[in-house]
Amino acid sequence: MNPASLHKLLAGLPLDGLRYFDSLGSTNDEALAWAADGARDLSLVIADEQTSGRGRAGRKWSAPPATALTFSLILRPVPAPPEEAEFNPSLFTGLGAAALADALKPRGLEPRIKWPNDVLLDGKKVAGILAEAVWTGDALDAAVIGIGVNARAGSNPPDETLRFPATNLEAELGRPVERGELLRDILSALIGWRAKMRGGELIKAWEENLAFRGQEVRVWQGSEQPLAGRVAGLASDGSLLLLVNDKIVTVQFGETRLRPAL
Ligand code: BTN
Repeated sequence: MNPASLHKLLAGLPLDGLRYFDSLGSTNDEALAWAADGARDLSLVIADEQTSGRGRAGRKWSAPPATALTFSLILRPVPAPPEEAEFNPSLFTGLGAAALADALKPRGLEPRIKWPNDVLLDGKKVAGILAEAVWTGDALDAAVIGIGVNARAGSNPPDETLRFPATNLEAELGRPVERGELLRDILSALIGWRAKMRGGELIKAWEENLAFRGQEVRVWQGSEQPLAGRVAGLASDGSLLLLVNDKIVTVQFGETRLRPAL
């Protein structure tokens, strides 16, 4: 990846700014700082190497040079009724997940979204999403959607750090992937879904791609005992619906961990 070819590849998208780094700590950190400093809607941060990337629940997401696709997109809030204008990390995560699914399917892959923020191929994690916000007092200033994709060989996290099996696109496809083209397709899908974020369409698409749908799973929230149930679908705010003893239980987005039951 280089900035000149990226600019060319992304020229058809309505991006409002692009910061490319050969190496960066975390694209989310850079995007949060840039948003606080006035970045406009649809500004993009991308790094070829990420040295201290962050995942959900304080986990690390580093990426060696020229292997993973790591980027963060800044979204300024669109006018919405007050009750919808707050930051819902779940919906912004779903936006990233639905876009990833759309970009991977035409490549002959069958992505599944493991609620809340992982994308799986053949039961192994290939991508993760971290949605964060910048606030001015109580008002949402900007949302940042950070996406990391294990694109090429060498991008999987080290085995000793894995909490869930991992894979990369090159291994699944049996050929290298062009990260710039993948980025273009993810962004294009994400921008399309953003216009349909409210009103149920995004939830429907997310639900259709949900991993373990109809299957028994366990969900951990904090240090509590896991909740065992069958994945029933998603609520309109992106919460997970589990069927537990014939009753639907809503699992809120947060410090959760989901695993298939053994
Ligand atoms: C997770 O699996 O918990 C989410 C991982 C999100 C990683 C991406 S890589 C680009 C962006 N910058 C970061 O520091 N994190 C996200």
